[in-house]
Amino acid sequence: MTKKRIFSGMQPTNNLHLGNYLGALKNWVDLQKQGDECIFCVVDLHAVTVPQEPDKLAQATREIAAAYIAAGIDPEKAIIFPQSAVAAHSQLMWLLATMSQMGKLERMTQFKDKAGKNTERVGLGLFAYPVLMAADILAYKATHVPVGEDQKQHLELAREIASTFNTRYKVEHFPQPEPQILGEATRVMSLKDGTKKMSKSDESDLSRINLTDDAEKIAAKIKRAQTDSAPLPISVEELKDRAGADNLVTIYASLMGRSKSDVLKEFGGQPWSVFKPELAEIAVRHLSPITERMSDLLAHPDKIDRILKDGAEQADIIARPILRETMDIMGFWRA
Ligand code: AMP
Ligand code: TRP
Repeated sequence: MTKKRIFSGMQPTNNLHLGNYLGALKNWVDLQKQGDECIFCVVDLHAVTVPQEPDKLAQATREIAAAYIAAGIDPEKAIIFPQSAVAAHSQLMWLLATMSQMGKLERMTQFKDKAGKNTERVGLGLFAYPVLMAADILAYKATHVPVGEDQKQHLELAREIASTFNTRYKVEHFPQPEPQILGEATRVMSLKDGTKKMSKSDESDLSRINLTDDAEKIAAKIKRAQTDSAPLPISVEELKDRAGADNLVTIYASLMGRSKSDVLKEFGGQPWSVFKPELAEIAVRHLSPITERMSDLLAHPDKIDRILKDGAEQADIIARPILRETMDIMGFWRA
């Protein structure tokens, strides 16, 4: 069996929220503990597919790196680095863009959501976003990619691009990266509307729990979270058509590393006024140490910068020869 190489990333835009933590970051920490090679990128080139303020981007990149480390990613064991610091990402992206179909990119739901009706003026970067994501993964020949449910379609495209390359050049160059969509909370929903994804871009702060929220804020947001008038059901099937209720049970289960049915065994039949304070307490118990470690780390930006610089060097050592090998297969000139 070939060795596992895990790659994933998050954009340095706004604060991380509970969805990012439960859908991705928490799983990364678990995977790292299993001892596989892990590469975690702060995808700043993806962030600029929508306008970013130049005087905030570098600091936002440090903040995401701090969140990775605070959540339990160990820079001694995993590579943590900014995407823009390793040139292979952009270079490989161009090569892969030549074998990516416009029709497929047009069907990406994230593109459709972000572009809205304004398709005439939407930037090329937003359109090509999934090709850059494929380059991120393939530049390391990563075998496993832990992400939330919303990234599944992008990963399918990355797999197709990898096999288009292999077929066109009759090689077994790129592996097929496996999506790892793990745990109970692969899609955490808005606290205000259980049918909408919890998102950094929702205009209402009450819709999400940010990793930087204090205990009081977390409790207040959970107290106001959408449910319905019925008590908690006794079985998972009964959560169907109860989106707000399902979301809170899912969050609880995921934080505790338990199954939803196990949680319902304990709380089935209870009113929300009993469940919500329990949920708030465990959310605070999980998140407040992360928030604290994050602010400690951010008090020493020079340390974070050193980790990012070392990480970029290590990442470059892996990606550069893979890029060169890709160019050789395509027949580019070399000295
Ligand atoms: P982003 O904030 O778009 O950079 O996403 C970073 C990671 O968090 C990706 O793996 C996403 O799939 C994951 N993610 C974002 N929002 C959610 C959510 N509401 N539920 C679960 N995972 C999420
Ligand atoms: N598109 C991902 C998101 O918004 C972030 C990302 C960029 C990514 N490149 C990646 C995730 C490579 C996994 C692998 O969440």
